[in-house]
Amino acid sequence: MVANRKVPETGQAPAPVRALRLGVNIDHVATLRNARGGLHPDPLRAAHLAIEGGADGITAHLREDRRHISDADITRLKNELTRPLNLEMAATDEMLQIALRHVPNACCLVPERREERTTEGGLDVQGAVKTLKPLIAKLKDAGIRVSLFIEPDIKTIEAASKVDADIVELHTGKYCHLALEHDAAGVASELERHRTAASAGASAGLEVHAGHGLTYNTVQPIARIPEIVELNIGHFLIGEAIFGGLSMAVRRMRVLMDEAREALSVQRGR
Ligand code: PXP
Repeated sequence: MVANRKVPETGQAPAPVRALRLGVNIDHVATLRNARGGLHPDPLRAAHLAIEGGADGITAHLREDRRHISDADITRLKNELTRPLNLEMAATDEMLQIALRHVPNACCLVPERREERTTEGGLDVQGAVKTLKPLIAKLKDAGIRVSLFIEPDIKTIEAASKVDADIVELHTGKYCHLALEHDAAGVASELERHRTAASAGASAGLEVHAGHGLTYNTVQPIARIPEIVELNIGHFLIGEAIFGGLSMAVRRMRVLMDEAREALSVQRGR
């Protein structure tokens, strides 16, 4: 039975709450792999595990400097994933050609600076209408949904609508940073900015996503914003996986080592 929902004064029932999808960003599995230049740990394997754990989609950022995800990763992800691939990329010609070659389910356009550690700040949509509009049109013509990673700001939402984006992804980085600093007033004001932006985005016909820096401690207030239908989370989940899964990996290594020693003892007649 459906639980009784409070009917407002107008007599209109509130709109049903839409499901909230989780896109798992696997960039930092590749960061770890690249630290040694080999094949392990494999981001595709991580993607399969994330899906097994409940991810609705996989996000990967192909940076211009290829510091984590590589072109070969994108080929494998696109060919082998059982869930939608969201390709994060800079709005450049090189990346456009790559996206058109692979045709991911969605492209999220992000600002990119080589010296940054991660995507700092949202896309300057107002200042780039002329370049974004044709690039977005080409992606959409190829059947790719286009998302813009933006600050939770009304003017930027209006610009996103003007360039015909399908989706806006609200940058939650500042909110998460203020939460880490225990700045309650700052957190409240950032959350309000997200609520206002999400509502404006939905009213403009844009699908609203959010992400960056989200953790177990910061996810719920964002998940309670009804217009947001997808969260993209990476660094924290990959970091937590070390703690959630490390003891299992060490146990398995211990078993393999002990088995080998046991075999050696048997071989030498003890
Ligand atoms: N969304 C976008 C557009 C991003 O660029 C990133 C970082 O790559 C994320 C979400 C995920 O951020 P985090 O790794 O901090 O969870």
